[in-house]
Amino acid sequence: MVSTDVSITKKENIEWAKKVVAQIVKKEAKVAVRSKDKFPYTAVDGVFDDQTSKNPCWWTNGFFGGILWQLYGLLEKDPILAEDLDVANEYKNIFKEVAMHQEEKLDCNFMDYYGMDHDCGFKWLLTAHASELLTGSSKSHNRVMLAANSLAGRFNPNGNFIRAWNDKTGEKAGVVIIDCMMNLPLLYIASEEDKDPRFAAVAKCQADTTMDWMIREDGSAYHIGVFDPEDGDLIDEPGGQGFGPGSAWSRGQGWGLYGFTLSYMHTGCEEYLEFATEMAEYFCSHIPSDCRIPVDFKQPKDVDYTDSCAASIAASGLLLLSRELRKFDDKKAVSPISQAEYKSDKYEEIAFKLIKYLIENDSDLDEEHDNILKSCTASYHDKEHEFPIIYGDYYLIEALLRYIGEETFLW
Ligand code: GLY
Repeated sequence: MVSTDVSITKKENIEWAKKVVAQIVKKEAKVAVRSKDKFPYTAVDGVFDDQTSKNPCWWTNGFFGGILWQLYGLLEKDPILAEDLDVANEYKNIFKEVAMHQEEKLDCNFMDYYGMDHDCGFKWLLTAHASELLTGSSKSHNRVMLAANSLAGRFNPNGNFIRAWNDKTGEKAGVVIIDCMMNLPLLYIASEEDKDPRFAAVAKCQADTTMDWMIREDGSAYHIGVFDPEDGDLIDEPGGQGFGPGSAWSRGQGWGLYGFTLSYMHTGCEEYLEFATEMAEYFCSHIPSDCRIPVDFKQPKDVDYTDSCAASIAASGLLLLSRELRKFDDKKAVSPISQAEYKSDKYEEIAFKLIKYLIENDSDLDEEHDNILKSCTASYHDKEHEFPIIYGDYYLIEALLRYIGEETFLW
């Protein structure tokens, strides 16, 4: 377990993080120009690949746009993080133009029924929702509502869940995954924006089903729950992208601790905060002393596959949970969440250690290279492990901005 002792002060940490952010702003301005037409997923030798033709509906196709909107929002608030005001304006124009282009590129998804899965949240929160927040675009709002409608349409009232993936055989009709917790804000936001409670009602059902069936007593999560799509009975809980049935896929743990925090924020339901905390406790108590996060907390001892995405997602989620626990404590409510203030401090410190580990040990800040993180793993049983993945970069940037208090909140 990671010690929560910090040898340097928060102020110094923020100064350090701001310097890193300034480097990232400069780097991403170059990346945005040379990769503007790409939907990047990974990078080879520092050059982004492009999913545009081979996989235009891939679930990660919103993350590049998300990075650009985060940096645009940052420079709106704090232009000093670029060299000077002129440079800040130049970068902002680049970030905005490319992010809008990325959002438009996603429009073909709306014409592909089988390309529209439960990952509508990842795709359109970070693009269209970001754009509506930062520019007030009504076209972007339209996209948010179309995406939310599609996500809500995946709800199965037989088992109170959102179907994750598509097929034409019905084999996947009852598949639910922990990752879906991160897509639910699209539904909460659609309800909030259009004053229509249908969307949030669906989101709450999915959060409740996840809470009831997919989280174990010790706070670890199943990646996948397979339900009978006719009667809603739980049939199976296979290993999914983790090591195996009963194991603890670290990225799933990150999705869960972050996703339950988001459902708490949108609904005020304290049980979600409790589950977020239980999942965070599990994650934090399994972080190795060197902060190198395994792909699965229960992977065999002689396997050392790591997933930096899990680390960056958890870092960002822990910072948010820390903030919510601090507010919760401030409310002086009769707390079902023991020691909220203590845990708030602990999660913030651990999140910072993860960020620092990633920047110092697994990041490429060279402006001529497209990716930042180097050692992400999509799935334990894949042939390839430890390569760049775009969402690792998104969450690392989000975590850094959250730590310095400069993020645009997109969930
Ligand atoms: N949402 C799929 C994954 O985390 O790989």
